[in-house]
Amino acid sequence: MIILPPKASTMILTKPDKPKRQLRFGAFMNVPSSHPTGWRHPDAIADTDLCFRHLADMARMAEHGRLDAMFFQDSVAIPGSAGLYGGKPFNPRSGRQAHIEPVSAIAGLAAITSHLGLISTCTTSYNEPYNVARRFLTIDHISGGRVGWNLVTSQAEDEAMNFGLDAHLDHALRYERAAEFHDVVVGLWDSWEDDAFLRDKESGVWFDHTKMHFLNHRGKHFTVRGPLNVARSPQGRPVIAQAGSSDVGMELAARTADMVFTAQPTIRDGQAFCAEMRTRAAKYGRGPDHLRIFPGLMPIVGRTEGEAREKYEELRELVDDEVGLRGVARLCGGLNIYDYPPDGPLPPLPPSNAARARQEMIIAMGKRGMTIREIGRVLGMSQAHRVAYGTPQQLADDMQEWLEADACDGFNLLFAHYPKPLEDFCLLVVPELQRRGIFRTEYEGTTLRANLGVPVPPNVFAQEPAHA
Ligand SMILES: Cc1cc2nc3c(=O)[nH]c(=O)nc-3n(C[C@H](O)[C@H](O)[C@H](O)COP(=O)(O)O)c2cc1C
Repeated sequence: MIILPPKASTMILTKPDKPKRQLRFGAFMNVPSSHPTGWRHPDAIADTDLCFRHLADMARMAEHGRLDAMFFQDSVAIPGSAGLYGGKPFNPRSGRQAHIEPVSAIAGLAAITSHLGLISTCTTSYNEPYNVARRFLTIDHISGGRVGWNLVTSQAEDEAMNFGLDAHLDHALRYERAAEFHDVVVGLWDSWEDDAFLRDKESGVWFDHTKMHFLNHRGKHFTVRGPLNVARSPQGRPVIAQAGSSDVGMELAARTADMVFTAQPTIRDGQAFCAEMRTRAAKYGRGPDHLRIFPGLMPIVGRTEGEAREKYEELRELVDDEVGLRGVARLCGGLNIYDYPPDGPLPPLPPSNAARARQEMIIAMGKRGMTIREIGRVLGMSQAHRVAYGTPQQLADDMQEWLEADACDGFNLLFAHYPKPLEDFCLLVVPELQRRGIFRTEYEGTTLRANLGVPVPPNVFAQEPAHA
């Protein structure tokens, strides 16, 4: 039997459903706890800073939850240890002191995961581009194309003292160096065209020398000939993440970053930040799919609203005023905040040479009437990232609202301690987001670029785009 199609006039034209925008997630690894004294929580495993086995278990959990990436924070000093900000040079209750160097950690994690993106911070202020290019591209090969580099200019001023300096490099100079550092690294990553290696046993030709490129970079900060002794990777090049939100930081990210980590507290701030970043990126010929924006979010999940509130209160109880105050002190631009009464207002601050956008955030809190101690408590809870508590449905509502309002592409998730809140997110919140069709049930691909949906950049030296 032949079934004739209905006449055009009787056909009901239904448009196929527009695919829903998808959330994306990075699990921010600030071991032993993103809540600076969250390591004291009864559920916390307190040695996640030095025990690789725990990192491996958490990477498996993040992959089970189909998160885009695990993202490691870093500094090349113990922040505050140089006593630059008044007060004592250490606080024995601050969790983050010694930790596994994260570029090495992601190499280890690459071997025990198959889809999860692995992002490590690495500073442009106290490194050389050739070494950084080589390490990240190597791990991109080890992982099959799942690596990201969080390019930072170093917010911990103490780092200078480990690299032959008495004071941190100036903010503007750090960004100038970072921009050149980036260009050198990316140029080195493209040293070889994708089909350069012939490995032809018959002819005995290992490589096509016309497809090997010398960078011959001579700039203000670096002189680097190249080529790099590592070839392009399965995702072309590692993903670039950036987390500085000062004017110059946003400009660098607009030109260079595939991902931006930020800390917008309200949906309106998120919208304004996304719009601003996209306008800036457009100047460099980059569209919304070139740049994924991830505001920070500390989710506190309960099976009921009451349980979630209880967990939230418990974490607030754990906030340590002295540790919070140290967080304020390092953003005060050289002014000794310990000279001021903690229950008084935040005084006018000289510009910070550490982190400008973070300083602006505490100044805004001061303007809203918060005392120094209250500001410290916000830093002491979530490092001033947004906190949301609730049931999986309530958290999903919140995140969906941000996504649909174009206030984010996803979230950089902060966990008050490890590993329970990460497990709660993956096991309780992810299924709710999947049910709503706003989060993947399977990874789209095997590389970080494929999962983020950001393009593989063409090789700058090649005539034809590589990986077209
Ligand atoms: C989510 C997030 C993570 C960050 N991680 C690091 C880090 O691991 N190491 C570091 O030195 N700075 C880190 N930063 C700071 C910035 O990358 C940046 O270098 C610093 O804030 C100065 O930026 P700005 O003055 O442009 O705001 C982070 C910032 C954010 C928002």
